[in-house]
Amino acid sequence: MKKIIIFLIFLLLIQCKQKQKHGLITVKAMVVSARKEAGKIGTDIMKKGGNAFDAMIATHLALAVAYPFAGNLGGGGFMVYRTKDGKTGSLDFREKAPLKAHRNMYLDSLDNVIPDKSLLGANAVGVPGSVAGLYKVHQKFGTLPFKELIQPAIDLAKKGVVVTKKQAKALNKYRKLFFKANKRKIFLDKEWKEGDTIKYIKLAETLERIRDNGKDEFYKGKTADLLIAYLQNLDGIMTKEDLEKYQAKWRKPIEFTYKNNKIISMSLPSSGGICIAQILKSIEPFHIEQYKHNSVKYVQLLTEAERRAFADRAHYLGDSDFVKVPIDSLISDKYLARRMKSFSFERANTSKEISYGKIAGYESNETTHYSIVDSFGNAVSVTTTLNGAYGSKVFVPELGFFLNNEMDDFSIKPGFPNMFGLVGAEANAVAPEKRMLSSMSPTIVEENGKLKMVLGSPGGSTIITSVTQNILNVLEYKMPMQEAVSKPRFHHQWLPDNIKFEPNFDKSIFPKLEKLGYKIDQSNAPVIGKVDAILVLPNGKLEGGADPRGDDSAVGF
Ligand code: DON
Repeated sequence: MKKIIIFLIFLLLIQCKQKQKHGLITVKAMVVSARKEAGKIGTDIMKKGGNAFDAMIATHLALAVAYPFAGNLGGGGFMVYRTKDGKTGSLDFREKAPLKAHRNMYLDSLDNVIPDKSLLGANAVGVPGSVAGLYKVHQKFGTLPFKELIQPAIDLAKKGVVVTKKQAKALNKYRKLFFKANKRKIFLDKEWKEGDTIKYIKLAETLERIRDNGKDEFYKGKTADLLIAYLQNLDGIMTKEDLEKYQAKWRKPIEFTYKNNKIISMSLPSSGGICIAQILKSIEPFHIEQYKHNSVKYVQLLTEAERRAFADRAHYLGDSDFVKVPIDSLISDKYLARRMKSFSFERANTSKEISYGKIAGYESNETTHYSIVDSFGNAVSVTTTLNGAYGSKVFVPELGFFLNNEMDDFSIKPGFPNMFGLVGAEANAVAPEKRMLSSMSPTIVEENGKLKMVLGSPGGSTIITSVTQNILNVLEYKMPMQEAVSKPRFHHQWLPDNIKFEPNFDKSIFPKLEKLGYKIDQSNAPVIGKVDAILVLPNGKLEGGADPRGDDSAVGF
């Protein structure tokens, strides 16, 4: 009898453990995002009959209130979508360089990089794209009035947002920098603790003006005046003309097949889709499914594909409105097979020997991601950012929001690493009105012509590898969405030539990797990415994967 009871308890424990591997499962619609409040607001819009695009607008605005770390009015981002009838597309609402920006603006007279200038303060700020992006989405796909979509964010800002433990830690950590960037104390500059409530009264007023006056309020109206006056007072170069000229742009997404699946991801000015295509297509011939998940061979193969993709990124990729990028060649099977010829399981390649590839024909945990599926079958994948935590730390007191420091995503000097250690060259040099190269990779996966998965992540350069590894976790290793999102991750980006592993990665494989010539770095990566994703299950239900690395959650019905 005792044995039977122990066995039953054992079974129960196993079941509980297995259950935890699944995320929230709902029948009709879902939002997975960095804050429960935002997910609830987006979901409520869909309950009212709104579609995923309406929910996107409401969620984005709610994140601008509830998650000022990365949610924003003062930043930008990308949306990849797939409509219920299978049409795909993407929107670029990335920031751009001000008209007065120039190639050497972050260098001193001796051509040395001026410390922090591209990261902190008024001249780190790119022209914000979020508000233009939301209006563009609404114009094309919105079904509910914009006023109804913005109102919940206004109400939330007035009611206040409860500070989580992680949020309190982040706010307190950046206090000194808030002061440095603004040359004065801002209202968020005080000691916060978990459970405090922050009311964003000025932000609510800004949102109300946008509700009443539309997009022009942000780009031409009182909001624009206040924003520019504040930046110029801090010696910023942005002008009203920059705001007036800003346009969000519909772009053709990167689409490619990986085995039975079609992957749809963001194209330039994001490197995300191109790099993910290069990595997945480089490993496709190797039948990765035969290697154990996160085993030595798995890490080797993916690392070498990542190394090559990031080397190409550094050389070739930049805003395609300014530079010619040979996208088709870079993601062609022939080119990638040639690139992988020097790969062997016997020893590591080095980043010295792997430069960018030769193209034959030159043809023509601070960002945030949310995934949405509605009951009609529309899917929306959005990654948006201020770049660093609270962006440039410039907070316009009269407007109640932070501004990005996206200018650091340019290659401010050839070969000089940005805050993510990424290097770049000519293709991503600063120029007036150019968009800085991004790694944001909002992605949608189809299987046999049907919607399968919606995903994306913050994490700078590690976005690309986080999204890729999540795609493989589901497609190759058949993990439920939540388990796929929770699994430990690793990352290689060509330079620096090491593999970053999350601290909870199985360390038993390290000696073998080191013997093969790989350098291991566990020092600088407490977390790699923060993936929020939705999987469509075979029975049509939706499973959410909310990354436990943050306060993220899935909400749906
Ligand atoms: O566009 C990019 O690639 C970066 N600005 C993203 C920044 C980011 O993901 C910060 N999160 N940790």
